[in-house]
Amino acid sequence: METHKFTTFFFNYALFLVVTLFSLYIGGCLASRFNRFESGILMPSEELEPGVDDDQLGTRWAVLVAGSMGYGNYRHQADVCHAYQLLRKGGIKEENIVVFMYDDIANNELNPRPGVIINHPQGDDVYAGVPKDYTGENVTTKNLYAVLLGDKNAVKGGSGKVVDSNANDRIFLYYSDHGGPGVLGMPNLPFLYAMDFIEVLKKKHAAGGYKEMIIYVEACESGSIFEGIMPTDINTYVTTASNAQESSWGTYCPGMEPPPPPEFITCLGDLYSVAWMEDSESHNLKKETIKQQYKTVKARTSNFNTYAGGSHVMEYGNASLKAEKVYLYQGFDPATVNFPPDNGHIAAPMDVVNQRDAEMLFLWQMYERSEDGSEKKTKILRQITDTIRHRRHLDSSIELIGTLLFGPKKSSSVLQSVRKPGLPLVDDWNCLKSMVRVFETHCGSLTQYGMKHMRAFANICNSGVSQASMEEASTAACSGLNAGLWHPSNQGYSA
Ligand SMILES: *[C@@H]1O[C@H](CO)[C@@H](O)[C@H](O)[C@H]1NC(C)=O
Ligand SMILES: *[C@@H]1O[C@H](CO)[C@@H](O)[C@H](O)[C@H]1NC(C)=O
Repeated sequence: METHKFTTFFFNYALFLVVTLFSLYIGGCLASRFNRFESGILMPSEELEPGVDDDQLGTRWAVLVAGSMGYGNYRHQADVCHAYQLLRKGGIKEENIVVFMYDDIANNELNPRPGVIINHPQGDDVYAGVPKDYTGENVTTKNLYAVLLGDKNAVKGGSGKVVDSNANDRIFLYYSDHGGPGVLGMPNLPFLYAMDFIEVLKKKHAAGGYKEMIIYVEACESGSIFEGIMPTDINTYVTTASNAQESSWGTYCPGMEPPPPPEFITCLGDLYSVAWMEDSESHNLKKETIKQQYKTVKARTSNFNTYAGGSHVMEYGNASLKAEKVYLYQGFDPATVNFPPDNGHIAAPMDVVNQRDAEMLFLWQMYERSEDGSEKKTKILRQITDTIRHRRHLDSSIELIGTLLFGPKKSSSVLQSVRKPGLPLVDDWNCLKSMVRVFETHCGSLTQYGMKHMRAFANICNSGVSQASMEEASTAACSGLNAGLWHPSNQGYSA
């Protein structure tokens, strides 16, 4: 009886969440259907920039990373597969593109088109031909660092392909996933921590490993990976889907405008990601500059300044690289030769869902579409219940820990305080990691949802709390917890 009440309670909460979500994003719906095929007027063929000869270029390398797993995160792997196809069409060689993806989407039992992945409602398959460099258990932060550094010996598993580049080469790195302040997700723990990643970039630069690098990152709070720590003197330019304190957004989601084909119960893409890729596909990249792409993507990712869903695209690193043409990184597809650099692409705002609610949307779609009274429906309901219960547990234990550490009056202002732009999330990144481990030991795994609390852990460090005090507060806050599925012994620590 008690259990039943409990379930009902959480189920009501789930419905409440979903309804709120829909009124927020459907209610705010401005969208006329976006159609990437109705773009600009073709101009007469123009001479390509004189003096640009592919032979003078070093090798173009690319690293593509989808940091999530699970059918509810379809969109991240779809983005990455799409990026792969785009680069191949641009003439980047397969041997120079390293792909990280869990690879559990195309052949997932929930996929209505077995063996196929799409990244646009009317899009073609983007899965065929994508190399399985690092899949499943081999999609790890350690492997990503080894690949970037060209360190074959440090790679564990996978194809062994690494970025074996030299000082004439250019590198394009694209990452699509969940994130949180200072972290990006990985399907196998631990997460990627910003400072470690920046250290890898510095090392690659110091080793003369490239001429220039462009990095595009889609994730919640992705600005926080670079804010205050990205150097301007390592010939690298970065744009991120969002600033250091906001969500990034999934798009082409069921029930939203524009919707995926009706048989899909999951979002097909992410707003910033489809914005840069659809931009690249509709321009002559020998004429378009990085700066033009940045501006177009920024406009579209803001949902045309409505921010009705949508985020602030940010830039970091050496801004001089913006003057360069996009093809130096993404290649050039001869079919686009007559596309002007700015082809008057008309795009409309799109409905979007917060990365963290996309999982709930997916579960709810499954729930909705399963047969009433079926065992499957009960199972999904349980999953929704457990997910929401764990989310609430994480939120409330962090609140409680804050109260124990700082007192009820100051707690929330300390935990939520946001540092000025230009300052890093945390001064001591090792402290951040150890606070996360202490928390997970007592309170269970943070999961991709709990990444949002990274700022609280960072602020605990910034306030000079000792590990012993954190240990004491976490023990008190989570005593008697049976973390079950979410005990860190199942999947490891996220730090
Ligand atoms: C990980 O890499 C190893 C070595 O290449 C391979 O045998 C294994 O199948 C890979 N695992 C997955 C899940 O792809
Ligand atoms: C930024 O990049 C430009 C173009 O490559 C280069 O000339 C300049 O020295 C770089 N700036 C710094 C601070 O490294």
